Amino acid sequence: MKENYIVCNCKQIWYADIAHAIEKHDKFEDVEKVFEDVQKETQCSTGCGGCHNKVMDIISEILNSPSKI
Ligand code: FES
Repeated sequence: MKENYIVCNCKQIWYADIAHAIEKHDKFEDVEKVFEDVQKETQCSTGCGGCHNKVMDIISEILNSPSKI
């Protein structure tokens, strides 16, 4: 697991919070859908929205890594 850091400043959501929310998924066809679920679960990207791309990058990175987390 990578170093933990704050991804969403508005909601104080950490990388580990997002990684944990993604872990609950076992179907990964739709990154946007995963994003919505992660957003619902963690409240990330519900403030200024400035972290949207960062969250998307993290989702893609985790979903594309062979061992996930
Ligand atoms: S930094 Fe995530 S919503 Fe503002």
